[in-house]
Amino acid sequence: MSVLSGKKIVLGISGGIAAYKTATLVRLFIKAGAEVQVIMTPASKDFVTPLTLSTLSKKPVFSTFYNEEEVPGQDGILVKQNASWNNHVELGLWADLMIIAPATANTLSKMVNGTCDNLLLATYLSAKCPVYFAPAMDLDMYKHPSTIASFNALHAFGNTIIPAESGELASGLSGEGRMAEPENIVAFLENDILGKLPLRGKKIMITAGPTYEAIDPVRFIGNHSSGRMGFEIADEAAKLGANVVLITGPSHLNVSHKSIEVVRVVSAQEMYEACHAHFNTTDVAIAAAAVADYRPKNIALQKIKKSESSFSIALEKTNDILASLGQIKKNQFLIGFALETENEIENAKLKIQKKNLDLIVLNSLQDEGAGFGTATNKITFIDANFTIEPMDLKSKEMVAQDILNKVIAHYND
Ligand code: CTP
Repeated sequence: MSVLSGKKIVLGISGGIAAYKTATLVRLFIKAGAEVQVIMTPASKDFVTPLTLSTLSKKPVFSTFYNEEEVPGQDGILVKQNASWNNHVELGLWADLMIIAPATANTLSKMVNGTCDNLLLATYLSAKCPVYFAPAMDLDMYKHPSTIASFNALHAFGNTIIPAESGELASGLSGEGRMAEPENIVAFLENDILGKLPLRGKKIMITAGPTYEAIDPVRFIGNHSSGRMGFEIADEAAKLGANVVLITGPSHLNVSHKSIEVVRVVSAQEMYEACHAHFNTTDVAIAAAAVADYRPKNIALQKIKKSESSFSIALEKTNDILASLGQIKKNQFLIGFALETENEIENAKLKIQKKNLDLIVLNSLQDEGAGFGTATNKITFIDANFTIEPMDLKSKEMVAQDILNKVIAHYND
């Protein structure tokens, strides 16, 4: 899956012959799973039609501050009317990234100087996201000191240049200045974004879901965990660039991110073994699974018949996976969950010590909206220094982001 999947991209097109290539660029962005909003300078419309781009991007193309509509006037003659305002501030805030391609010498110079005489430039000035620009011009223009000065100034603003390529130019000359090919622009963006992801290069192991402890061939002891919290953490961690191994007990859920290695297990013992197989090479382990604490001492080989009027099963403790990881941890950042119904903070603190954790995510079943089967969760972070940080009720996706922000902060400290 492309790192551009789900990204909101503003593609600003300025008026150069290379604008015709943006049809391919839009198609590649859409194919990568991105949402594209095209903004054209008036001059760029001479090189590629808005209709082509709106068809490919599946969105109206914007080029003016106002969308004009022709409506019948009093005498039946069509008159132009300002129908709606293209809010450049909203567009700038909507975008996860903005790319200006082709970026002409004129537009680059205006970007440097804060000139704001079209919607593209106004959006550029409003954008809070990373901005990329792919210059396109003739070779002498590309090398001119004023163009180089524009590149340097934009670099100083934090914008990223996608260097022009060499080849035949529209002028008939040959040399550097041709806009990077659309495929190369996409590859450049993907590499650049991947390289900047905060958990890039980190291996994160996550446990999720319940475990099932067999009683006989058809029965088991289980619990209501859906696995949702762990699956959300896995997807968010993968989005942040981590190599994710998700070790999950029985769950009907699937991860969205294809790079995640999913290890499906059934019992606590199988989860224990899978965790230990990965832990040595793991940087961060997050135990979100609701592991059974006890399992039947003996598993009946045949289905147990209901012959007795009362019946009991002898249970034995399962291995505490998290505690066993805490015992052998070296540099790993170890995060556990604690599900409590009373004396929450004190119990969670004890678990931090007993299991040698760096952070615990406390769930209290006394909190409405927290716990099993819900789409939301209300957690409290407690770290190894017993710093307590209660969080608001949030979606499990946002809770996953909060947990991973703690991981990022750990590596940035
Ligand atoms: N855990 C584990 N292996 C077990 C039991 C729990 O890895 N056999 C992990 C859970 O994934 C969770 C943390 O330990 O991250 C705490 O789980 P919890 O059920 O709250 O606590 P327990 O240690 O089982 O203690 P108790 O049930 O007595 O509260």
